Amino acid sequence: MVSGGGTNLQAILDQIESGRLPGCQVVTVISSRPGVYALERARKHNIPSCVISKKDFETLEEYDEAVLKHLKEYKVQLVVLAGFLSLLGERVLSEYENAIINIHPSLIPSFCGKGFYGIIPHKKALEYGVRVTGATVHFVDREYDSGPIILQKAVEVMQDDTPESLQQRVMEQAEWVLLPEAIRLFAQGRLKVEGRHVTILGESAQRKEDEG
Ligand code: GAR
Repeated sequence: MVSGGGTNLQAILDQIESGRLPGCQVVTVISSRPGVYALERARKHNIPSCVISKKDFETLEEYDEAVLKHLKEYKVQLVVLAGFLSLLGERVLSEYENAIINIHPSLIPSFCGKGFYGIIPHKKALEYGVRVTGATVHFVDREYDSGPIILQKAVEVMQDDTPESLQQRVMEQAEWVLLPEAIRLFAQGRLKVEGRHVTILGESAQRKEDEG
């Protein structure tokens, strides 16, 4: 699910095409807005896409239902919020419990929550004067940026950073690496969620669990 330029979507597509995400396929792309470049990326890769926008529905329940219907139609197993800037509805959240992940451009719990999206976390990080920021991939729950954390990666802030230069470095060094990595771990069945805590199972541990 996307809302903008789709560089995180592109990172996933690149890893799939180079064989580094075996067994994974982007079956559909849902955008919250029309005309965004992420939709063009989907088109170039022959991936079905659509726009499902909250404002086109009278109630949140109808919006929720439309998203769920689309996800079911495409037999989606993992929902990836790759720069998606809306909150999901109750039905999608409960049907896909521990199967929706989000990438956020800061080290949660810093610079996150309602209103912190896109370039804003980077502006706030520079205003605060932190030396280190980064990105976080987490499971999605009912609030903004608040579910169990899967992976985080730190990125150094430089003296002469602007919000734009920091955003670019966080994407290159952290986001485009972490999001595909989290998808790989999910696909390999190696993420075990207990309350707020995510355990990353070793490959051999997972084999033993599978064998019972
Ligand atoms: C990314 O930096 C992503 O982490 C952020 O929006 C940008 C989307 O870029 N997401 C959030 O802020 C969510 N709270 P992209 O469309 O090029 O992937």
